[in-house]
Amino acid sequence: MLFDILTLFPNIFDGYLSESLVKNAIDRELIRVRRYNIRDWSTDKHHKVDDSPYGGGSGMVLKVDCVVPCVEEVRANEENRGRLLMMTPQGKRIDQKFVEELSQEQRILLLCGRYEGFDERVSQILQPEEISIGDYVLNGGEAAAMIIIDAVIRLVPGVLGDEFSSLCDSFSTGNRLLEGPQYTRPRVYRGLEVPEILVGGNHEQIQQWRAEEAVKRTEQRRPDLFQY
Ligand code: ADE
Repeated sequence: MLFDILTLFPNIFDGYLSESLVKNAIDRELIRVRRYNIRDWSTDKHHKVDDSPYGGGSGMVLKVDCVVPCVEEVRANEENRGRLLMMTPQGKRIDQKFVEELSQEQRILLLCGRYEGFDERVSQILQPEEISIGDYVLNGGEAAAMIIIDAVIRLVPGVLGDEFSSLCDSFSTGNRLLEGPQYTRPRVYRGLEVPEILVGGNHEQIQQWRAEEAVKRTEQRRPDLFQY
């Protein structure tokens, strides 16, 4: 699976891409991640990528004549044009179902904005899917792009050590329950004991207990998940 990230700040991704599961997935060639600096497509002699909004107002708007050529050129450099996602708080809010859909793609392009957003003509010309990670405003789309990559690659075969562990995740298809509590050693810590049933070795009982705890936790914390 190929991710192409289009951003004004490619270095923001350095740490994320060089640690843990993601690094491992890249090293094993299960995923590829390429970064492009939108500024490289600026035709301005000062490498300007933004300008003040027509009609006045605060902030700066990303220029259509940088963003569109950047996306078009990156998109055309592979036979598969891929799925183009624009990170914006005005987009469709993502959920696990959408993440599962993305995990079937061969190529995903993530277009990250900054400042007050993109000139509207970027959307008119490129027709991206406008995607939000939640109802709050970030300083830019980079953190949102990392969240999408993080959620999607868990579902790419081989990325997780245990092939089944993503199937059991809260929100995965067929599972609309939160996960219940988990414990590891030590068995007693500051007087708090691991539930007896988990150390008893009866797998049927343990499964049953986990299922009940998942329902309890969902009822307490996210009753809205039952309304489907
Ligand atoms: N850029 C700024 N805020 C965002 C959000 N909530 N989701 C996606 N991209 C964003």
